[in-house]
Amino acid sequence: MSTKSALITGITGQDGAYLAEWLLRKGYAVSGLLPRRSTDTLWRLRELGIEREVRLLDGDLTDLSSLIRAMEVSKASEVYNLGAQSFVGSSWQQPILTAQVDGVGALNVLEAVRIVNPQARFYQASTSEMFGLIQAEMQDERTPFYPRSPYGVAKLMAHWATVNYRESFGLHASSGILFNHESPLRGIEFVTRKVTDAVARVRLGKASELRLGNIDAKRDWGFAGDYVEAMWLMQQQPEADDYVIATGQTTTVRDMCRIAFGHVGLSMDDHLVIDPAFFRPAEVEVLLGNPAKAKAKLGWAPKTSLEQLITMMVDADLRRLAS
Ligand code: NAP
Ligand code: GDD
Repeated sequence: MSTKSALITGITGQDGAYLAEWLLRKGYAVSGLLPRRSTDTLWRLRELGIEREVRLLDGDLTDLSSLIRAMEVSKASEVYNLGAQSFVGSSWQQPILTAQVDGVGALNVLEAVRIVNPQARFYQASTSEMFGLIQAEMQDERTPFYPRSPYGVAKLMAHWATVNYRESFGLHASSGILFNHESPLRGIEFVTRKVTDAVARVRLGKASELRLGNIDAKRDWGFAGDYVEAMWLMQQQPEADDYVIATGQTTTVRDMCRIAFGHVGLSMDDHLVIDPAFFRPAEVEVLLGNPAKAKAKLGWAPKTSLEQLITMMVDADLRRLAS
């Protein structure tokens, strides 16, 4: 049996690392796009022990020529576009870059696929942030979008470009509308990891407070390791389509934080400080996804509860800080 080849943009990110691990286990030859950085960005691949098992190709989402080269060299039959400026908070400070990387960047990948190998299957990392000011209590594939950040606006362009290339050129192009998903490999700027890192620091006597913004915001949080399976399942379907991937449960930042402190026997109220610096110009107050379609068509369901997820993250941060 010939080996399948996959190309992942954003391979050094949280999802890229877990997806690479998943695909390697399935026997794929995995290539990843590596944008030029002056710092080491390979820590996640190293932590999973797969740094040497993937082929890293120089390239950037804003450079179509590098994407064409990556398609040619990797000979990918499955392409996963996970690369992005993914931090919502930064997108107000860097709106143009966010649009270029997250919006036009996705279009560049679609073009590279169309030019080099239109038979290749394409996955776009769409996001629940596109629902923004929610138009339905529970969001599914039919819920109208109303983005609330430059990030959400850029991702909406990429989402519709994916639909458009499917309908215009017959590409097998799918969008996964993923709700928030976290893990021990989550970037430190996102709220769950900021909390679990701070809880571990407080527990070890290395810090005494945690400063947060809007703790009334509610998110539908799942485990990234569960969600990369859904990406792969979408690529295995005979027809490309769009799918909401979520847990169907929503929790406030406040309650997520309480779980994290409670896990190490501390009270959140003794350490939490509300800091206006962390409030956003426009907020997504609540997200709650309905993954019924993914369950029915992909046979996908989340496996990890929020308590298990936060516990896993706090324990990983305790280990990191102690060593
Ligand atoms: P992440 O950890 O921030 O990873 C983003 C990846 O994109 C990194 O590998 C980054 O490389 C790469 N990247 C950034 N700018 C690039 C550029 N100009 N060219 C090429 N690569 C570039 O994000 P994640 O949590 O894994 O999320 C993966 C994707 O899913 C993103 O598109 C995100 O927007 C989307 N998404 C995430 C969630 C979630 O809850 N995690 C939910 C819905 C959708 P460097 O590290 O070198 O910058
Ligand atoms: N980051 C952060 N830091 N968020 C805070 C803080 C803080 O100090 N205090 C409160 N929050 C609130 C934010 O205002 C937001 O309502 C919520 O916590 C979650 O923030 P993030 O963890 O930064 O995630 P996000 O929901 O904005 O975006 C993530 O999920 C999207 C999917 O809905 C990112 O992964 C996006 O890339 C992804 O598309």
